[in-house]
Amino acid sequence: MSSRHFLTLGDLTQQELDGIIQRAIKLKQDHRNGVQYMPFKGKVLGMIFEKSSTRTRVSFEAGMSQLGGSAIFLSPRDTQLGRGEPIEDSARVLSSMVDIIMIRTFEHKKLETFAQYSNSPVINALTDDYHPCQLLADVQTYVEHRGSIKGKTVTWIGDGNNMCNSYINAARQFDFNLVVACPEGYEPMQALVEANQDRVSIVRDPAEAARHSDLLVTDVWASMGQEEEQLLREKAFADYQVTPQLMDLANKDALFMHCLPAHRGEEVSHEMMEDPRAVVWDEAENRLHAQKALMEFLLLGGQS
Ligand code: CP
Ligand code: NVA
Repeated sequence: MSSRHFLTLGDLTQQELDGIIQRAIKLKQDHRNGVQYMPFKGKVLGMIFEKSSTRTRVSFEAGMSQLGGSAIFLSPRDTQLGRGEPIEDSARVLSSMVDIIMIRTFEHKKLETFAQYSNSPVINALTDDYHPCQLLADVQTYVEHRGSIKGKTVTWIGDGNNMCNSYINAARQFDFNLVVACPEGYEPMQALVEANQDRVSIVRDPAEAARHSDLLVTDVWASMGQEEEQLLREKAFADYQVTPQLMDLANKDALFMHCLPAHRGEEVSHEMMEDPRAVVWDEAENRLHAQKALMEFLLLGGQS
């Protein structure tokens, strides 16, 4: 299968990723200026969601429509995917009918298998292990507010989850340092940490992690699929809330990001969400622009 896929940030080169970020910034400006750009006329995006979503669904669907194409929402509840049709068969059939496919699912392996059998480009719209589309939006947001993220120090506070794993990949691909503050037993993927030891460190103390940071990021304590662990996790992460006081320890021009949905009073305080250092709404909006740039890259090979 010759299609390029986007299953993790490692699937694209550093130059390609930088190109997508710059293109996303341009597409955003054009969109704001009312410029119509519809290179996807007749193209169809298949969207498979095995987990809930607000931002991912709307940004992909709106993005596809703005580029002149259309999108089909597929849930396991009303497709054969939910009735056990093999993933390999689904991939071959769906990719023969649509031009590009995004998948939000549980096991990362399932996404990899789908991509292996797909004739169309496949995009990871979140798995238990990674959420690379969110990182495109996060990096775009940082670049828009502060310029290049290269050489900066980014601090992850909380669960070593799919977002945190993608931050490790981003540290490598966008060339920044990452400090992860998490309780014992909630570290990001060990192999990933080991492979990126030159730029990733794990500490236990959020205050230590926040010092000298240019960007603080957090995410929910219990991700989708971990709902039954909520109480246990609330205890484990009690000291890991991002507040304006924690932000005060970071560099003067540090920003705060959260992929959303946010649980105020848990991983982030009410005040922090309203703090001028929080750029979470820009970050959410940029999902639209970053994914338009990504789809353009995967379908048309990028534009300048
Ligand atoms: N950040 C993010 O992926 O949000 P949704 O779960 O709403 O898609
Ligand atoms: N870590 C969260 C991200 C949601 C966008 C989850 O997987 O539920």
